[in-house]
Amino acid sequence: MSSKVLIVDDEDLICSMLDRVLRLEGYEVETSTKPEEGLNLLKQTAYDVLLTDLHMSGMNGLELLGRARRIQPACDVVMMTGYASVETAKEAIKLGAIDYITKPLDIEGELKPLLSSIMNSEADQDEPGEDLEDPRTQDAWGDFVGRGEATLGLLKKVTKVAHSDVPVLLQGQSGTGKEMVSGLLHKLSRRSERPFIKVNCAALPETLLESELFGHTKGSFTGATSDRDGLFKAADGGTLLLDEIGEISLTFQPKLLRVLQDGEFHRVGDAQRAVKVNVRIIAATNRDLVKAVRTGDFREDLYYRLNVVPLEIPPLRERIDDLEDLLEHFIAQAARKHVGYPKVQFSEEIVRVLNRYPWPGNIRELANAVESATVLAEGTQVRLADLPLAIQDFARSLGEEVGSNDDMPLGATPAETLEEIEMRCIIQSMVKTGFNRTRSADLLGVTRRTLSYRINKYDLEDELARLQEANEKESQAPENTAN
Ligand SMILES: Nc1ncnc2c1ncn2[C@@H]1O[C@H](COP(=O)(O)OP(=O)(O)OP(=O)(O)O)[C@@H](O)[C@H]1O
Ligand SMILES: [Mg+2]
Repeated sequence: MSSKVLIVDDEDLICSMLDRVLRLEGYEVETSTKPEEGLNLLKQTAYDVLLTDLHMSGMNGLELLGRARRIQPACDVVMMTGYASVETAKEAIKLGAIDYITKPLDIEGELKPLLSSIMNSEADQDEPGEDLEDPRTQDAWGDFVGRGEATLGLLKKVTKVAHSDVPVLLQGQSGTGKEMVSGLLHKLSRRSERPFIKVNCAALPETLLESELFGHTKGSFTGATSDRDGLFKAADGGTLLLDEIGEISLTFQPKLLRVLQDGEFHRVGDAQRAVKVNVRIIAATNRDLVKAVRTGDFREDLYYRLNVVPLEIPPLRERIDDLEDLLEHFIAQAARKHVGYPKVQFSEEIVRVLNRYPWPGNIRELANAVESATVLAEGTQVRLADLPLAIQDFARSLGEEVGSNDDMPLGATPAETLEEIEMRCIIQSMVKTGFNRTRSADLLGVTRRTLSYRINKYDLEDELARLQEANEKESQAPENTAN
């Protein structure tokens, strides 16, 4: 389920030390103290990286390198060597090793960063998503709508990690599209032809969840009338989405941890035989797991196992530049779903309100709003009254002249445009926080990146620098008089 590393070193201690360290990093590790045996392992299993010693009895590292490259050209080889043999190590590079590291090994400073960069660049190579214009990618993104700045950033990341087998943790508010992104991760992966199975961990009590996931043997509990495979088995070779992972109980968490660590589990009622599977795990939650770890509701070790690649799905209001595309998409979707109801239209005034509305329910809320408007609208023009009350209230709070029961358009153009309001808020919050972007972003309820993006977009850098300078002069003034 994770990246695989093969270690060949004739020193037992090095093997066991590396085994322990790399397992903790989430790698699947196999070790061998005999080069011949290492080659045999390479014939049986695909590895991402072979980490081999240079000087070994039986066969030296260079020979092993050459033979390993012929057996498994896609496996990257890293040579381990003493300082004295750096020249030979360079020879190894010529022969196709990806890099070398010197002994004594610097695990933290050298080995871990090297491995992670190899694994990452591997994900880069053969995935179609790097080039966003790639038609295969566009096609695979299918009905995932939105090509604004933040969404493209997300999609790039999705395509990048889709091809590796590392666990992904999808976090984001309710309705932001976590489930949809999990589908993309599967579709864009090498596993796309294999099963994609979703489990809602919050929907079942613990004992049922266990037998659902792991299966059970006949008679293991009342109602277990026959042997049954669980969803892990069903997902073998494919992807398993553990949705609402934040809801699993503390007693069930260790069992899940074990599958993630060793790729094996026991069916309920069968303590003897472990079942081995090859499943890529995606977990999703709208809970803040870091907080849950802190409060003791979620195991830290499990959190780190799941969170190898974190993907944060931004709320809709932080990618509001997607709104119009989404609107169009949901308008067409609603008209298809409700036969006899035509595609509706939203006036510019209403779109302006929708652009400013905070969308606490995110994309799902937008989809629902469009669906209800489609059904309620008289004719094709959507009136404010056709939209959910929360949006109507919001529109009124904007202080615009809103005719909720008549067909009047949504009032006069506001004195300030949305952009102007935003710019004013940014400037005010920056002044208030002494031009600290992090605190300013907190104050505005956006991420620091979003704030910087907006500052850039509205070209506020100069204005802010000027204000900051003026402020500093002002605050220095009393000191000067005191002197
Ligand atoms: N980018 C998108 N393009 C089109 N539809 C989307 C997009 N993102 C989400 N949706 C739609 O919005 C709805 C909510 O998405 P989804 O179920 O994936 O959200 P979620 O984050 O899993 O929500 P929850 O936390 O409530 O489980 C779904 O109907 C989904 O099809
Ligand atoms: Mg969901």
